[in-house]
Amino acid sequence: MEVITPIIYSDTEGYPSAMLSYDKQEDFVEIKDHNGVALRVYPLDEYILRFRYAVEGLFEDDFSYAIAPDYQAKKVDLDIIEEEKLLTIKTKAVVCKIAKRDLRVSIYDHQGRIIVDDDKGFHWEPNAEYGGYIVQNSKQIQFNEAFYGLGDKPTDLNIKGKRFQNWGTDEYGYHYNTDPLYKSIPMYYGLHSNIGYGIFFDNTFKAYFDFGHERKNAASFWAQGGEMNYYFIAGPELMDVCRRYTLLTGTPELPPMWALGFQQCKWSYYPETKVKEITSTMRKLEIPCDAIYLDIDYMDGFRCFTWNKEYFPDPKKMVDELKEDGWKTMVIIDPGIKKDLDYPIFKEGLEKGYFCRRMDGPYVEGKVWPGMCYFPDFTRPEVREWWAGLYKELIAEIGVAGVWNDMNEPALFEVESKTFPVDVLHDYDGHQTSHRKAHNIYGMQMARATAEGVKKFKDGKRSLIITRSGYAGMQRYSSVWTGDNIATWEHLWLADTQAQRLAISGVSFCGSDIGGFIGQPTPELMIRWIQMGIFHPFCRVHSSGDHGDQEPWAFGDECTAMYKKFVEIRYQLLPYLYTTFYQYHKEGSPMLRPIVFYDQTDRENIDRDYEFLCGDHILVCPVMKPEISTKHFYLPKGEWVDYWSDVSYLGNMEYNFLIEIDKIPIFIKKGAIIPNYPIQQYVGEKTIDEVTLNVYHKVGTEYSEYYEDGLMKMEDTDLPNLTCLGTKIV
Ligand code: GLC
Repeated sequence: MEVITPIIYSDTEGYPSAMLSYDKQEDFVEIKDHNGVALRVYPLDEYILRFRYAVEGLFEDDFSYAIAPDYQAKKVDLDIIEEEKLLTIKTKAVVCKIAKRDLRVSIYDHQGRIIVDDDKGFHWEPNAEYGGYIVQNSKQIQFNEAFYGLGDKPTDLNIKGKRFQNWGTDEYGYHYNTDPLYKSIPMYYGLHSNIGYGIFFDNTFKAYFDFGHERKNAASFWAQGGEMNYYFIAGPELMDVCRRYTLLTGTPELPPMWALGFQQCKWSYYPETKVKEITSTMRKLEIPCDAIYLDIDYMDGFRCFTWNKEYFPDPKKMVDELKEDGWKTMVIIDPGIKKDLDYPIFKEGLEKGYFCRRMDGPYVEGKVWPGMCYFPDFTRPEVREWWAGLYKELIAEIGVAGVWNDMNEPALFEVESKTFPVDVLHDYDGHQTSHRKAHNIYGMQMARATAEGVKKFKDGKRSLIITRSGYAGMQRYSSVWTGDNIATWEHLWLADTQAQRLAISGVSFCGSDIGGFIGQPTPELMIRWIQMGIFHPFCRVHSSGDHGDQEPWAFGDECTAMYKKFVEIRYQLLPYLYTTFYQYHKEGSPMLRPIVFYDQTDRENIDRDYEFLCGDHILVCPVMKPEISTKHFYLPKGEWVDYWSDVSYLGNMEYNFLIEIDKIPIFIKKGAIIPNYPIQQYVGEKTIDEVTLNVYHKVGTEYSEYYEDGLMKMEDTDLPNLTCLGTKIV
């Protein structure tokens, strides 16, 4: 066979050459070129094709923290056709054509429409400093293509024209376009000519994504090491791409319902009298709330798993008393363990060799809240088990309800990189490696160990875990918040886009520090934030506290009343939110949906990032500017009923609405049935023996779902097992 030399773009870059052979194995098709490059194409189902490349024909151990352990690839009947210039692999949904000249890949649908095709395709550069390769891929940008995804990036919803980096970073007071932030989710969507698809680049090294920023017509992704290992996910509906990606990387179990309740946090509530003052004021003012948070000051000198006995002389008694009144106490736990030989946890970790070391032997140490710390290697199963065991006292004895993991990028103070040096060694579950590869999954493995510990000491019952950092798949273990934001109007919008973006990146259980962590919101901003925040799956007010208070009563009586009104709406909507969570858990449906995910056929929608759908039927249009009296906006297709006035509106049209401070535009999809609970001060306060079904009547059919956990009595919502009653109402 004639060997055709591929096009060479640069002499430092390597490219596959012409195909030498192909071979159909049980799980994949392996294609080899003339220079030893190998490509494996794995069909996981009719819609998902996984591509792995090995420059020298040698593949790494097939190990991923992202893929859900219970994910089952389906048996796919492939149709493989070899022609003069192409090797074609067909599933029922897609046609993948591999050019024999240079192994470039093009994927089509069965109508012959291009979904995505390689620009340069896979290529690489030797990594002179560390060995291995910088593995790269570039795809052509199709006419009018839009891009979405990538987790917590604080930017416009459509990320076309932008470049990003994935490297978990503690970014106190970030802004529009700050990059990278805390989380690394290497998954993006493309949408053109009503065809949506996804690319998930499962590589934990520092990675980059470029959507026409460097070269107008190319969308590229590359990483500083590891394998070119990506999943192509066909749609054509963006919602289906999202479901497929989310099921691939896993969904969380349903949380206890209180975890969807309102939560009050501050850095920090202490001593005990302060905590009680907050909780009793909430109850006195009848502002529903389920969880109260203890930030780092509850500890003794910021030593994890200890208590400051001066502030909290009897933690168990306090937690019990709070529990009596319906409160769930949440505590923060950071990864840094104070370097102090009189601190038993440090001593034990040291003796057992659980802390991370540098390449030449010394422990990695760094300053965080407690001063100098060592850090557990959460990528080692034995260390995770140890860490899980450390929760015994907090959970089993004291009765803490759930745990908040922070600073787990891991964050270090006073060093330029803000994190570990890259020569730190990690076990990576038996695949020893350096921090270059383990950095982006460190936080997720910490959250995993925490989740395992909390579950163990709650006898298998469900709980609430929150993490700041994480990688694709983190959603299996934890909810998330968007880190240290600022009390500005810009941040209200950033919180909106970040939450939508996280939801479509598999992480629906997300929210922002309502009101802003840094700075003090004006009463108006606080109210607008609450009005949006009640529709975010994780709904917590948090602030750094050194600028003022953000409790519901801190902004004057008028504000308190509005605050209360919106939190009450959240509690009424709990069965709707829980059903939405169930759909996420079961089908991978994002709980928050950008308008373009609701209707991708309308080009007007591709850049819309203010309004969003919460679940199937509620359209939320947050107010993002101060002192406005009207708002011009667009209602997407369908018919919508104004939540406040019950007036119906036709979609696919723009309207000018009057805006009042005590309302934000909320619309219910006509035909929907929205289940409502009575207002409770906390989940479980009342025995719910009646659920109100609000029917938004229309002539025609609309599908509404209502899910219950099986027991209507919510006193013990931490049920270990799910019983799906799944009443379906049409
Ligand atoms: C970090 C967290 C913040 C927390 C603070 C103190 O800045 O992001 O939420 O309150 O640390 O623990």
